[in-house]
Amino acid sequence: MSQDVARGGGLTGAERTTGSRERSNLMIPVISIGTLKTSGTTTLSLTLASVAAAAEIPTVIVDAARDADLGNWSRMAGRPPRISVERVEDDTALERCVRAARRRGDFVVIDCGDTAAAITAGARLADRAIVPVRFSPLSAHAAVATDRILAADVDGGRPGRDRCFAACGMTAIPSRIARTLEAIIDQSPTRKLDIGLVQRAAYEAPFLHGGTIFTLADEIAPGLDRARAEAASFAFEVGVLGTTQTASALAEVAQAA
Ligand SMILES: Nc1ncnc2c1ncn2[C@@H]1O[C@H](COP(=O)(O)OP(=O)(O)OP(=O)(O)O)[C@@H](O)[C@H]1O
Ligand SMILES: [Mg+2]
Repeated sequence: MSQDVARGGGLTGAERTTGSRERSNLMIPVISIGTLKTSGTTTLSLTLASVAAAAEIPTVIVDAARDADLGNWSRMAGRPPRISVERVEDDTALERCVRAARRRGDFVVIDCGDTAAAITAGARLADRAIVPVRFSPLSAHAAVATDRILAADVDGGRPGRDRCFAACGMTAIPSRIARTLEAIIDQSPTRKLDIGLVQRAAYEAPFLHGGTIFTLADEIAPGLDRARAEAASFAFEVGVLGTTQTASALAEVAQAA
């Protein structure tokens, strides 16, 4: 895990000391997720938001992706009251929405989808940008291209922001292919998270039934317990759950499971 996260990542000193109770739970208050080719940004956004909500952190999902999948999810039954979804159509609305959520001390996940404009705009407002990588060569190449776009834009946006790759929707693939993908991603010095999300039907269940992996019943979607544990570890790795309250927050997450 990076020292960034151990230090509190993109939080400024002022935010660390003056934030609300909820903010003190958060190490990385605003995360953007995007890559140039479909690689699970929407699933990952909802999964991280679900962990934060299960740890009782007020959470805003900002849906800046083209197809409004999370806006649609929010209209299904079962959305936890701690998660709100805001659909934004342009950069001005995106910025207004993220700034308002920051002021409230909410956790924010921005689903930037797959367009360069939204990925750049979201990353500028975030403390950390996540570039998901599916285990396919096309996804890996798209992730590296996304990383280059973000690298070219480091001077804009929030000071101290960073970015990382995260493996999502991994399947068991032959090791030769895995090595090829690693070689593609290794073209970039950008940090790779140690933990990702594997491919599980449980992550898709909220889009079918509404709710989240923490609110759905086991009869509805098998494998929820594993998905919850993996999602909580992933959220910790990303820096969603902060140092002081991490143990208790994770315990609550496990209890909810
Ligand atoms: N970890 C996972 N396990 C199982 N299925 C997954 C996982 N991640 C993504 N998927 C599935 O892969 C498909 C694409 O995922 P998702 O919609 O999250 O990607 P996206 O990058 O937002 O795509 P789009 O470009 O269409 O917005 C969906 O059917 C989703 O349910
Ligand atoms: Mg999407």
